Amino acid sequence: MTGIDFTQGWVNGWIITIVLINLLGCLWLLWWTRKRPEDPIKDGESMGHSFDGIEELNNPLPHWWLNLFYITIIFAFIYLTLYPGWGDAKGVLGWTSVSQWETEVEKAENRYDRLFEEYAQIPMEQLATNDEVIKTGQRLFGNNCAICHGSDARGNKGYPNLTDSDWLYGGSPEKIKETLNNGRSGMMPALGAALGEEGVKNVVAYVLSLSGRTGAGNAEAGKEKFNMMCAACHGPDAKGNHMLGAPNLTDNIWLYGGTEAIITETINGGRQGKMPVFKDKLTPAKIHVLAAYVYSLSK
Ligand code: HEC
Ligand code: HEC
Repeated sequence: MTGIDFTQGWVNGWIITIVLINLLGCLWLLWWTRKRPEDPIKDGESMGHSFDGIEELNNPLPHWWLNLFYITIIFAFIYLTLYPGWGDAKGVLGWTSVSQWETEVEKAENRYDRLFEEYAQIPMEQLATNDEVIKTGQRLFGNNCAICHGSDARGNKGYPNLTDSDWLYGGSPEKIKETLNNGRSGMMPALGAALGEEGVKNVVAYVLSLSGRTGAGNAEAGKEKFNMMCAACHGPDAKGNHMLGAPNLTDNIWLYGGTEAIITETINGGRQGKMPVFKDKLTPAKIHVLAAYVYSLSK
């Protein structure tokens, strides 16, 4: 428990006292207002005052009604003894909300674990066509991946879209599984200092020309620099490299953005996208199902 510790002795005694006073108070009230033989006013006769034309008659509560009240109070005593009710006493049944919750979770997990173990035996390509698996994968994705990749898996700036066929690290089920198990670290170095202002401008113009656009710099000069400083990672044709997670720069699909300003920022400052490791958070069977789900998104 956070904050005040309610199991402290005096608080505990105080709670028990208040509960007792309440229950015994109700009992006393019922007893005190009961019908007595020595009552001066007979049943059904006027109590002697009226208001707005309504006269109060002496009509005591019916017996069954009164008995219900007594039963409720007795029930309260039994209930508070069986379940945790008297201060921090555990209750003779030993019930706790936590243990009830744990039992239910365990039951559900047993059921799902068996299902996941079955799925784990089936190749991912095959799972990717199974509606039940897709629904399960969607749920897992919502809980573990959507905060970064979006609930529709279409990504965001710096977080790749997983529904297209443009892959940083490869889109086969095995490659996707490898990404989930071990995580990925993109490593685009900051090259502003090495290229100089003019050099960056030219390289940016060349990168823009790869998707049919022009920039302020000289694309021809930029191409030379590209072959020297970028091709090792992005490839001589600039179509990227799955081993390094270097993006294809020719398809006009951008992880960080494809405007002149953003490409300049990328080259000047570098980029280090990080996909977290999941093999210590999810079971192999769940990763199997998730990889099949992600694979299905681009099909
Ligand atoms: C904390 C944010 C974050 C979470 C959570 C996250 N990812 Fe990622 N993921 C990334 C980033 C960032 C990248 C890109 C890494 C890079 O730039 O090299 C990435 C890359 C990927 C890739 C590689 C895409 C490609 O083009 O090759 C896949 C597949 C992927 N994530 C799937 C998932 C799945 C499935 C989950 C949930 C189990 C998940 N991610 C959870 C941030 C996240
Ligand atoms: C050491 C390998 C390496 C070198 C050298 C390198 N890059 Fe990169 N580049 C990457 C990686 C990896 C990424 C992806 C970063 C990430 O996932 O966060 C990237 C990302 C980019 C992006 C962002 C693409 C997008 O979709 O938003 C651009 C643009 C880019 N590089 C251009 C260049 C240019 C131009 C050069 C040469 C001046 C260059 N890179 C040199 C590895 C490299």
